[in-house]
Amino acid sequence: MSALSGRTILVIIGGGIAAYKALELIRELKKRGAAVNAILTRAGAQFVTPLSVSALAGSPVHSELFDLTHEAEMGHIEFSRAADLLVVVPATADLMAKMAAGIADDLATTTLLATDKPVMIAPAMNVRMWLHAATQANLATLKARGIAVIGPDEGDMACGEFGPGRLAEPQVIADAVEAALQPTGQPLKGKKVVITAGPTHEPIDPVRYIANRSSGRQGYALAEAARDLGARTILVSGPVSLAVPPGIEVLPVETAEEMLEATQAELPCDIAVFAAAVADWRPADRHEHKLKKDGKATPPEIKFSANPDILRTVGHLKEGRPPLVVGFAAETDKVIDNARTKLAAKGADVIVANDVSASTGIMGGNHNRVQLVTAGGVEDWPELDKREVAMRLMRHFAQMLAEKGSS
Ligand SMILES: Cc1cc2nc3c(=O)[nH]c(=O)nc-3n(C[C@H](O)[C@H](O)[C@H](O)COP(=O)(O)O)c2cc1C
Repeated sequence: MSALSGRTILVIIGGGIAAYKALELIRELKKRGAAVNAILTRAGAQFVTPLSVSALAGSPVHSELFDLTHEAEMGHIEFSRAADLLVVVPATADLMAKMAAGIADDLATTTLLATDKPVMIAPAMNVRMWLHAATQANLATLKARGIAVIGPDEGDMACGEFGPGRLAEPQVIADAVEAALQPTGQPLKGKKVVITAGPTHEPIDPVRYIANRSSGRQGYALAEAARDLGARTILVSGPVSLAVPPGIEVLPVETAEEMLEATQAELPCDIAVFAAAVADWRPADRHEHKLKKDGKATPPEIKFSANPDILRTVGHLKEGRPPLVVGFAAETDKVIDNARTKLAAKGADVIVANDVSASTGIMGGNHNRVQLVTAGGVEDWPELDKREVAMRLMRHFAQMLAEKGSS
């Protein structure tokens, strides 16, 4: 059941070009079971109509502070009392400034000042407005007061510029609202999660190795999500240039063989997630000394041997197999077909498939678009920040684990 079921969210829509996306957010919140009240600022009403907002919210939308009927039915205090959470979408530079300064000169800002409920803002504005020292100072003030800030994203903007300032995707905002209202913030408390991440380095000689472009970001983000959901988290990490996240036990390894050994030493565990990009092959001979040119015309030949398949090994364990085994399938073609084959062959419960063709920018990038392949079918997720993907995945795995436990 969604954490939004039976909750009331007050959506405050500011006067920005991204206001239309607030409509999508309202739909998403309603779809997840929330009741939605809405306040539209006067400027907001220049971008979306009160009719669209109230039709989607299923309740009248309000703009004016000095409105007798509305004050008698649902005034600014009552608005905040009725809500479990307030979310400002888009949060304009103006609304952020007023919130930071405690200005209350319309219904939106008065309600925001009068509330003692959790407040989230999803800012959206021109990149220079966002980067302006005034906005950044207001942002710091709001954050320091415990206001959650979602986004903004970086990308092409409606004003024709590029940079940070784009409204976070409505799905992501809805996820953040849902996460903030989770009754049990730590569904993995008392569980042990082992995650592999990063590339492996397979040595040719003491100075050269075969590697791949994996940055380890997705695996590290998964480990942070598992930690935040309460799990004791072990991260078996190939060589990456990422900081060691606090509260996670990191076991650094180089080769696939070392990764397998370190992983097996951590079993049993409740969930094993194999997000590392493990080299399929390694140079058969590891030369003790650096290979030299020595004036030879022909370069040395490198023969390969197969590396151990960590996912398959753990997925097929007769004893000590984790209740939930998750593999990743980074593919450049026939993504779903390959993921389905992998699911069966490797004995995994879930394969998280993604297209890592160079054009997607996923390998080494900050975003990921995944599809979840299980025996039950395929789930298509939108493109999201790798951290967001990680939190959603970990919550999903926690749910699958709970369902397995109760079946
Ligand atoms: C076409 C147009 C687009 C605008 N887009 C934004 C925007 O994306 N973000 C923003 O902070 N302000 C934007 N503004 C400025 C705000 O509408 C203005 O600051 C207004 O006072 C905000 O009112 P509110 O914060 O009460 O909604 C825009 C103005 C115009 C005319």
